[in-house]
Amino acid sequence: MKKYDPVIGDMPHILHGADYNPEQWIKWKDEIWPQDMRLAKKAGINILSIGIFSWSMLEPEEDVFDFSWLDEVMDMLAENGIKADLATPSGAKPAWMGKNHPETLRVERNGVRNEFGGRHNACLSSPYFRRKVTQINTLLAERYKDHPALGMWHISNEYGGSGDSSCYCPYCRAAFREFLKKKYGSLDALNEAYWTTFWSHRFTDWEQINPPMPAGDTNLHGLNLDWHRFTTWQYIDFYRLETEPLKRITPDKKCTANLMNLFWPINYFELARELDVVSWDNYPLWRNSEKDYEVAQNTAFLHDLYRSLKQGQPFMLMESCPSAVNWQPVSKIHAPGAHLSHSMQAVAHGSDTVQYFQFRKSRGSSEKFHGAVVDHEGQGRTRIYGEIVQTGEALSRLDEVVGTTVPARVAILFDWENWWAYTDAQFAHNDNKAYDEIVREYYRPFAEMGIPVDIVDETCSLEGYDLLITPLMYMIRDGFDEKIRRFTQQGGTWLTTCITGYVNDTDLCFLGGFPGPLKDVLGLWEEELDALYPEDENCIKWRDKSYRGFYYCGLSHVLPADEALGQEASVEARYGKDFYAGYPAITRHQAGQGQAIYVAARMEPEFYRDFLGALADELKLRRVLPEIPYGVEVTSRTDGEKEYVFLNNYLPREAQVSIGEGGLNLLSGKEISGQVNLPAKGILIYQRKFS
Ligand code: GLA
Ligand code: ZN
Repeated sequence: MKKYDPVIGDMPHILHGADYNPEQWIKWKDEIWPQDMRLAKKAGINILSIGIFSWSMLEPEEDVFDFSWLDEVMDMLAENGIKADLATPSGAKPAWMGKNHPETLRVERNGVRNEFGGRHNACLSSPYFRRKVTQINTLLAERYKDHPALGMWHISNEYGGSGDSSCYCPYCRAAFREFLKKKYGSLDALNEAYWTTFWSHRFTDWEQINPPMPAGDTNLHGLNLDWHRFTTWQYIDFYRLETEPLKRITPDKKCTANLMNLFWPINYFELARELDVVSWDNYPLWRNSEKDYEVAQNTAFLHDLYRSLKQGQPFMLMESCPSAVNWQPVSKIHAPGAHLSHSMQAVAHGSDTVQYFQFRKSRGSSEKFHGAVVDHEGQGRTRIYGEIVQTGEALSRLDEVVGTTVPARVAILFDWENWWAYTDAQFAHNDNKAYDEIVREYYRPFAEMGIPVDIVDETCSLEGYDLLITPLMYMIRDGFDEKIRRFTQQGGTWLTTCITGYVNDTDLCFLGGFPGPLKDVLGLWEEELDALYPEDENCIKWRDKSYRGFYYCGLSHVLPADEALGQEASVEARYGKDFYAGYPAITRHQAGQGQAIYVAARMEPEFYRDFLGALADELKLRRVLPEIPYGVEVTSRTDGEKEYVFLNNYLPREAQVSIGEGGLNLLSGKEISGQVNLPAKGILIYQRKFS
């Protein structure tokens, strides 16, 4: 196992920082800026993201530039030993651009062009916009290439934005047609892939093809899927445009784009391949109640996803909020201790930074009540500032954690293309396809057991995993069936659910029965799928215990040995109710050196706990600690020699945890072992030998 380089080469620490907009305070800079530096240093802040929405201050009029204030800010950061995560300003464009060049404004899905306003309100195809982005990025890189404060590049901000993140203008439509031409080569191929003879939609000229829009077509599922792929490609193409001058002029500086949550419009597995380091913005709905453990598990899933996007490379927690997130439906303040706990959760899952939105709370506009390091009070006398100082101190003791990663042998599939296609399909539960909910139901038991998990998509390598779980793998993308076949042949355990292998890469159904090309590996054929109303359920008895199955029930048949790699699957559980009582509900099939397991229905949480717990024992999956009380998260990072164990108690009461031989508490510097008490929101980080 290797140790990764620090995010910024000459800063081998867990970075601590925030988005910083000193230009909002330019009129008061003599008083405010030195104050900012004093408060930043006291909090152990060593990175600030600057310039994120600064275009109108850098180019106040078309082709009139003013970098003087940024020069001063860069110098000030350098003097204070703080690195700049310098942003390109494309996240919001100046008002003059909307006025002088309206074609840079985005056209929404209803076909109407936006007015100037908001942010991200740009057409990524507009030649003028692209030229201006290249120009200003080049000027920034030329100007600051040798500046000691320049640490790395923050590309734009949260790519996506207004509407569904796509633009439907003539430029973008033309670019979409080019994308399709390149992909299919001929209209015949496209017509077949989209099954356009349905409803007489056959295209005879590329110009007839438009993006999916309510006023036009929304029923061609292949087209919908390609529009999503095109949108992803457009952002990648734009990212390449943005980074071209930066990579040319400052080749040793890393670039990142801050990602968010499970962002529907962009396939992050693809975008992440372009980034030098992954970063993301985390705004969970913390409750300060019993519910926080569930919130923590959902957040853990996201941290694991972001770590997995680059196969375990440490990521950056680019934004998080030290207290109330003012745009949330209930904008709750964070209770004492919560801030350190939330920050450490990111580090525990592989982040090498803890950063906030925002450093100094703005005085006006929509984010004036958003949590910040420095409040309107201005002097750092707030409770939250105190907690940030404490967090900075804790982070400063974790230098040796930098570059280590999480050793996962379990992979759970979360595939954007599958998500799009499955959600678009009209069948079963049209009210709520629940893809990410069901994926997380399989994730949670591992979190509770302290077994690390990676999140993968169908393009990822399966090497190094013992267990692969693919909930609702509706779509089998080209080549993924072969990967699964090889994975099981070589000894891997593959677990899947109903709705596996229904369609191919262009959303055409597999003929000959589901799960298409993987029937022989699973050893069964899913003939029908029942969708259950909320008040209905089935019961499934597995190892002497009865469990509730609900929502989906797959109706399957075990295939004869000659259609199933020479051996019939064994049935471990059957439905207990309805006309399909007696049908297989859980099956297991020997496939090569490995096995394939099928769970036919959506099951109650207790089942996942028991079933996956038994499977973890059977596969001898390593748990960070053998016994973990409910509400406590236990994770670890390692370089293959030392292991850093993180404990985090999310419940509003004390928890007792046995840590056995224990090790060196990194925050107190003392050896610890045996039984430890974790107060509510308490954390513990200790170092031991990895074995
Ligand atoms: C996003 C943006 C920030 C800010 C925060 C507020 O993550 O990137 O600019 O608006 O939300 O939570
Ligand atoms: Zn456009």
